Amino acid sequence: MNAVERLPVTLVRGQGARVWDEDGREYLDFVAGWAVNSLGHCHPVVVTAIIEQAQTLIQTSNQFYTIPQIRLAELLVQNSCLDKVFFCNSGAEANEGAVKLARRYGKRCLDGAYEVITALGSFHGRTLAMVAASGQLKFQKPYVPLPTGFVNVEYNSIGAIEAATTSRTCAVMLEPLQGEGGVNLPDDNYLALVRAWCDQMGILLILDEIQTGVGRTGTLFAYEQYGVEPDVMTLAKGLASGMPVGAILAKDRASVFTPGEHGSTFGGNPVACAAGYATMKFIVDNDVAENARRVGQYLISGLERLGQKFQFITEVRGRGLLVALEFNSDIAGSVVGACLGQGLLVNRVKPNALRFMPPLIVGKGEVDEALDILDKVLSTIVS
Ligand SMILES: Cc1ncc(COP(=O)(O)O)c(C=O)c1O
Repeated sequence: MNAVERLPVTLVRGQGARVWDEDGREYLDFVAGWAVNSLGHCHPVVVTAIIEQAQTLIQTSNQFYTIPQIRLAELLVQNSCLDKVFFCNSGAEANEGAVKLARRYGKRCLDGAYEVITALGSFHGRTLAMVAASGQLKFQKPYVPLPTGFVNVEYNSIGAIEAATTSRTCAVMLEPLQGEGGVNLPDDNYLALVRAWCDQMGILLILDEIQTGVGRTGTLFAYEQYGVEPDVMTLAKGLASGMPVGAILAKDRASVFTPGEHGSTFGGNPVACAAGYATMKFIVDNDVAENARRVGQYLISGLERLGQKFQFITEVRGRGLLVALEFNSDIAGSVVGACLGQGLLVNRVKPNALRFMPPLIVGKGEVDEALDILDKVLSTIVS
């Protein structure tokens, strides 16, 4: 189906931060499957985990425990502020589950409250409910009428959340920083103010860390940088470095599902969980998040230097290896095309902005290469 705007390239192989197309052309990959290949392409620890698990046990239903699922759940709980985990297959599915959990909490603890406050500019996935949750008209408009129960309010405004809170509200759901919406960073105290408000009102704070989690922003989870703890957190994307897995994590007090209230045939699939365990273990043991912080800062500095050279660059922003470069006009599409021609994959996150989200193991040498290509491309665009 013609649902996704595709680039005219067929990729056949990947290694580290590089991919190759069917004609043998090499590309430096600063998209990483939309922030998915956290350890790069075909990292040996992930490949080995997949092979070994595929030779042992590929799938069971969730009625049974499996070793990879238990190991990944333990690792997530040991390294986060959350206590319980439910596995699924994608980010949208994790967020749907988180909203269902919040509604169960509303029924049990908040007199039937069911509404979830989300932010304008947010992105929570492509299912109908998550389209309603995502505060972006371009995703919503083609599908109206949308499921009810979501209120989209201005991002980075505690006043907007306070004003939208009613007796129907069961949760606030936010990305710590918005990825798909353009790499939008909130004020440093925003999440702390939202946390305090949720505590005061007795409602849940759900943090969607599907894009920001697992080291992407320079700490294992972005919430650590804002001094808050969510009641519920969702993960997917980089969790298994390329294998499809999603997770809902919750504090004990918010973990209110009872048997039969939620489920998933493939959720917690042993092969995906083995890849997730190998990825998470490598990230934790090798402090890959610190590499993302350090190399991300290096990338930001390099982009800022380009900003001094090219007047049409208006802003560089981001945390860790989630970074945006904004222009004063809608040239991002042509920059992406020109970079592709020069062997660099970057993402157009808005008509006037690029997003960089390379593998978390990327080195400064590869960042230099990317900056050189970008410099060359941007020079052509002005002349
Ligand atoms: C913050 C956030 N939440 C949810 C999603 C949806 O994830 P998936 O595409 O795996 O359903 C995305 C995807 O870009 C995302 O960035």
